[in-house]
Amino acid sequence: MPDTDSSVQAISMARRDGAPLDPPPEYARLRQEAPISRVSMWGGRATPWLVTRWEDARTVLASPGVSSQNTRPGFPTAIENAPAMPPGYFFGQDDPVHDTFRRALTREFMVKRIEALREPTMRILDQLLDAMIDSGGPADFVEAVALSLPSLVICELLGVPYEEHDFFQSHSKVLIDSAVTAEEKIAAHQALGDYLERLVEDKRRQPMDDLVSRLAEHVDAGTFSVRDAADVGAFLLFAGHETTANMIGLGVLALLEHPEELPRLYQGKAELANSVEELLRYLTIAHTGLTRIAIEDIAVGDVTIRAGEGVIILLNSANRDADTFADADTLDLARANARQHLAFGYGIHQCLGQPLARMELQIVLPEVFRRLPNLRIEPGREVSFKQTSAAYGASFMPVTW
Ligand code: HEM
Repeated sequence: MPDTDSSVQAISMARRDGAPLDPPPEYARLRQEAPISRVSMWGGRATPWLVTRWEDARTVLASPGVSSQNTRPGFPTAIENAPAMPPGYFFGQDDPVHDTFRRALTREFMVKRIEALREPTMRILDQLLDAMIDSGGPADFVEAVALSLPSLVICELLGVPYEEHDFFQSHSKVLIDSAVTAEEKIAAHQALGDYLERLVEDKRRQPMDDLVSRLAEHVDAGTFSVRDAADVGAFLLFAGHETTANMIGLGVLALLEHPEELPRLYQGKAELANSVEELLRYLTIAHTGLTRIAIEDIAVGDVTIRAGEGVIILLNSANRDADTFADADTLDLARANARQHLAFGYGIHQCLGQPLARMELQIVLPEVFRRLPNLRIEPGREVSFKQTSAAYGASFMPVTW
C-alpha cells in the first residue's frame, strides 16, 4: 500500500505545444497511475504530496487536518523561505484569525451588494469596448479590456473615489504585469498600501456606503487595525484582479476556438450562468495548485498524509477528472454538472469573491461577442501566455474585428 515511502516523482508541469488551454498531459497519467504521489521541489529539499483527482482534492480541502499557514516548516510554498503574509491576506491564515477577517467581509459579497455593482460593471465595459473600437484596431485585448475591467470594478467595490481610479488602476496593473521589474512592483505595492491606509482613515472620518467604510467600522470597533484593514483591501485587489482578468482573456480565447458553443451564451440566464461555470472548469486558471500542510494524519484515497507533510492540490487536474466530468477535456457549455468544478477551491477558504467574478464574466463574455461578432486573433500573430504566474492567463492577445 502506498504510504509516506512512495517514490518521489519528477513531474513535468509543461503544457503540450499547440494546446495552451489544456493542463499538462502528465496530469492525466498521474490521475490514472499515481493519483496521490510525492513531488520534488526546492531542489529536492521538499517532497510534498501531489493530489490530482477531484474526489481526493475535495477530501483534502475540506479536512480540518490541514493548515494554510505558510510559515509552518515544510509548507510547500512555490519558493523556499517565502515571506510570511500579513494577517489581512487571510487566505494564508487558519481559524480563528482567518474567520475574523472572512466574517467581516461575508456580507460584501452577498447577492444584493454584487447586484449593485452590475450597472457600474456594464458602464465600465462599454467604455473600454468603445475606446478599443474607436482605436480602429488591431488591439491587445488583455490590455484594452481584460486587465482594466476587474481593477475598475474593485475600485467601485472598495469605494475608491472616481477621480482616483486612474492612480489605483495604473498601480494595480503594475503589480500583476509580468513585464515590469521587481523594483517597479515593490514601488507600486508600497504606493497602493499607503493609499489604502489613507483611504481607511478618510472613511473613518467620512463613512460612505462602501466596503472600505465598513472595514473602517471594524477598526473603530477594535476588531482589527488600520494596517490590517488596508491589507485586506490590497488582498482583495490581488485576489480579484489578475484572476478575473485572466478568466476574461482566456474565456474569450476559448470561445474563439469553439465558435459552435457561442449561441449558448444567449439562450437564457441559466444557460449563460452554466456556460461561465464550464469555462471556469475547463480553464481552471489557479493552475499551480493550492498549497496546504497536514497538521494531523489524514487518510486520502489509499494514502495517509502524515502531520507535517506538505500537500499541493492540483485544481486543473481535478477539474479534468473523467470520473467526475464525462469527456472532461471537451468544452461543453451545456455540461450538466459543470458547477461541481473546483476552480474556486473548496472548504473554508473557498473563493469569497466568486459571486463578483461570476457577475463580471456573465456580463463581459456575451457583451464582447455581441458588440464584436467578427472578433478574431489578428492573422499572422500569436497569443502569448503567462506560464509561471500563479494565475494562468494570456499576457498578450492581438485581436481584430
Ligand atoms: C475567476 C476569478 C477567480 C478565481 C478563479 C479565484 C480563485 C480562488 C481560489 C482557487 C481560492 C482558494 C484559495 C485557497 O483555498 O488557498 C480563492 C480564494 C479567495 N478569493 Fe478568489 N478567485 C477569483 C476571483 C476573486 C475575486 C473577484 C475576489 C474579490 C474581489 C476574490 C477574493 C478571494 C478571497 C478573499 C479569497 C480567500 C478566501 C479565504 O481564504 O477564506 N477572488 N480564489
